[in-house]
Amino acid sequence: MQLGFSVPIHLIESDLENSFLEDLKKDIYLIRKNDSGANISNNQGWHSTPDLFLKKEDTFKKVCSTCASSIASIMKSYDGEFNPETLDARFSGWINVNPKGGSNVLHSHPNSHWSGVFYVQQPTEVEGFSGMIEFVNPNQEGRELAKLLPKSGFDNMIRIRPKTGQIVIFPSYVLHSVYPNNSNQDRITIAFNSLLLKKKKS
Ligand SMILES: [Fe+2]
Repeated sequence: MQLGFSVPIHLIESDLENSFLEDLKKDIYLIRKNDSGANISNNQGWHSTPDLFLKKEDTFKKVCSTCASSIASIMKSYDGEFNPETLDARFSGWINVNPKGGSNVLHSHPNSHWSGVFYVQQPTEVEGFSGMIEFVNPNQEGRELAKLLPKSGFDNMIRIRPKTGQIVIFPSYVLHSVYPNNSNQDRITIAFNSLLLKKKKS
């Protein structure tokens, strides 16, 4: 079988330890004190200024390099010959803190190639769709096949709830949203975009 048209949603385990994630959380709450945030897709949640890849803190540097190297690994998984050195990779990143009731409306990430979400803290107490990310299939014409073959890639959407420490990476054009956090614990994620430009030959 050859997949003609498919939409990959990559779920990656990071090797970042719990002690690091605790330090990361402390730095996130620290910068939130001085960043009133932005209103983008967030509903009742805090969306930081999208300058995470420019931050000087070691925690942010480490998590940003983990996200960037995950994009390179994904590119290599499609093409073993892929060489990241041939690209001028431009990243932007921001933090989302969704308290109880916080959610993100349906959106995509224009002007990017791959986008992703690193899960800094995914609440452990979950009910229903709380905190799940939902991706919409760009090809809605598979709905009849989906009735016959559910969970085979033809469904109109998929919902996942990645765990703390995991990274989900997807093509930036895929529409997605986040269900309200029904937990008393904050749902904390780092979202990022990558724009991969071919370096000009000198
Ligand atoms: Fe998003």
